[in-house]
Amino acid sequence: WPAFEADIEAILRLKRERNAIVLAHNYQSPEIFHCVADVVGDSLALAREAASGDARVIVMAGVHFMAETAKLLNPTKTVLIPDPRAGCSLAESIEPDDIALLRQAYPDAPVVTYVNTSAAVKAASDICCTSANALKVVESLGVPRVIMTPDEYLARNVAARTKVEIIAWRGRCEVHEQFTARDIRELREAYPGAVVLAHPECSPEVVAEADFAGSTADMIGFVGARRPARVALVTECSMSDNVSVHYPEIEFLRPCALCPHMKRISLAGIRRALETMEGEVTIDPAIAAPARRAVERMLAL
Ligand code: 13P
Ligand code: SF4
Repeated sequence: WPAFEADIEAILRLKRERNAIVLAHNYQSPEIFHCVADVVGDSLALAREAASGDARVIVMAGVHFMAETAKLLNPTKTVLIPDPRAGCSLAESIEPDDIALLRQAYPDAPVVTYVNTSAAVKAASDICCTSANALKVVESLGVPRVIMTPDEYLARNVAARTKVEIIAWRGRCEVHEQFTARDIRELREAYPGAVVLAHPECSPEVVAEADFAGSTADMIGFVGARRPARVALVTECSMSDNVSVHYPEIEFLRPCALCPHMKRISLAGIRRALETMEGEVTIDPAIAAPARRAVERMLAL
């Protein structure tokens, strides 16, 4: 990729000079995912990786809540986000006051909060979860009902698999809510034999039409283990681009939707962050301590 060569070379040099690593989410563009990332993964893996290793600087090629989670787990390291505007519709759907109101309405129910939230919302919660461990987190609490925020669809998808009563919030992922059950039926008609994998941020109707639902890492694991001849990853567009490189024999159908927030991160932005050390993520210590507890409680499971 000649167009990217100068940025890639500069980033590789700057990483050495700054003792920095780049963590990239599975939705990052291929030139980031394949050429400059030290670690790639779903949000659970990125949180775990952020908590280990001895790099002094972490550049998060993901969205802002992922950078905040990395900072929570690494208070002494410098965490940079190449574009602080890289948000998330789920994180924007809820405030700490909303959690307080939910607690008032359901005082017996602990609050399980998806990592796709601000540190302040995590701080108001009892425990975090990701799409990879949401069911496990809910059932680990040993209570008859829990409040699950902010993703309504993830909550309903978990509710379909557990006896625990789930009180959901009304947040949605602006990317995954675009897929419909009809899209999946049409895809199956057009591409017989296709194996359909959906992210649990999709509606329960879409998940019901899919063969499997799981986090981005779970979907990659499914493809690697089962090697379907034809597969549709019902999620963000870069997933198929990134995964298909490893499986040239598999036909990847691409019923994808772009996440505009993830796409704010570019090679040029990563290079700039490492050159200027701008875009540092900071968290008020009064918020950081309880937010870290909620994340660490999840990681301990
Ligand atoms: P994963 O944890 O499955 O990678 O999902 C993160 C995300 O933002 C999906 O939209
Ligand atoms: Fe947020 Fe959806 Fe983008 Fe993931 S894909 S970062 S949940 S807006």
